[in-house]
Amino acid sequence: MEIRGKVVLITGASEGIGAACAQVFGARGAMLSVTARREDKLREVAGADGLVTAGDLTDPAVRRRAVEETVRRFGRLDILINNAGAGLYGATADAPMEQVRRLYELNLFAPLGMIQQAVPVMRGRREGVIVNVASIAAKVTLPWLTLYSASKYALHSMTDGLRMELRRDGIHTITVCPGYVSTAFQQNVLGGSVPESVREGKWFRITAGECAEAIARGVERESRTVVVPRAGWAFVIAGRLFPSLVDARLERILFRGPSR
Ligand SMILES: NC(=O)c1ccc[n+]([C@@H]2O[C@H](COP(=O)([O-])OP(=O)(O)OC[C@H]3O[C@@H](n4cnc5c(N)ncnc54)[C@H](OP(=O)(O)O)[C@@H]3O)[C@@H](O)[C@H]2O)c1
Repeated sequence: MEIRGKVVLITGASEGIGAACAQVFGARGAMLSVTARREDKLREVAGADGLVTAGDLTDPAVRRRAVEETVRRFGRLDILINNAGAGLYGATADAPMEQVRRLYELNLFAPLGMIQQAVPVMRGRREGVIVNVASIAAKVTLPWLTLYSASKYALHSMTDGLRMELRRDGIHTITVCPGYVSTAFQQNVLGGSVPESVREGKWFRITAGECAEAIARGVERESRTVVVPRAGWAFVIAGRLFPSLVDARLERILFRGPSR
């Protein structure tokens, strides 16, 4: 899909990958609608012509308002980028259920809720692209982020199913699987703390701008899955071909070794 002139709604756009997406899509001539909780940050990102809808995306009313306001302002919605998300570190067996529920509300149910609002609008024009920002952890489970990985596996699977369900409506879906992106992700976690052995990891490390560029190219090419950086595919393929070896390496990193 050509991005110029299209209306793009980006969740989690107040910082990190979402804010970078706003910059990259705006520079390509898209009209911006941005949402997250921090309104002041969103205003900086949206610029004079962009639409800001502030609120907590785990609230169905906020999701409805974000889509309705977008359609009211711009008359349509062409691209939805479900980017808002957060991590949860720590041992799965000890994870507080309340934190796990919040993780799934944000990483899975909020994107699903946004999709349920956006699809009827896109169907009306028989055109649309839905981008779900998952993670490399949606391809290979990271044991320091097991429940996060599970939420992103679910998001990935949902994106694949939706592609088949919605193709006849002219709507395409893309899963984005970034490696390590330099953002405040590790500070903005829902719970737990980052093990020393993975903090500042250098595996597949990229900037938010590089990630956003890859997302824009994925939309232009209507890719199925964007793994960014592309070197991440080596890790994904190793995980498929040699799962026990990759598990053993990840287990060593979790319990003692450095990730560099
Ligand atoms: N950074 C990485 O290494 C990495 C790697 C793979 C995948 N990802 C994925 O990429 C996406 C973006 O991550 P990031 O690194 O850019 O993280 P980030 O810098 O922490 O940004 C997260 C964004 O989500 C928003 N957000 C969080 N909770 C929200 C809520 N309840 N309601 C509305 N908005 C909410 C935040 O805005 P407010 O605080 O203003 O609400 C912020 O704009 C996430 O889905 C993450 O899982 C990140």
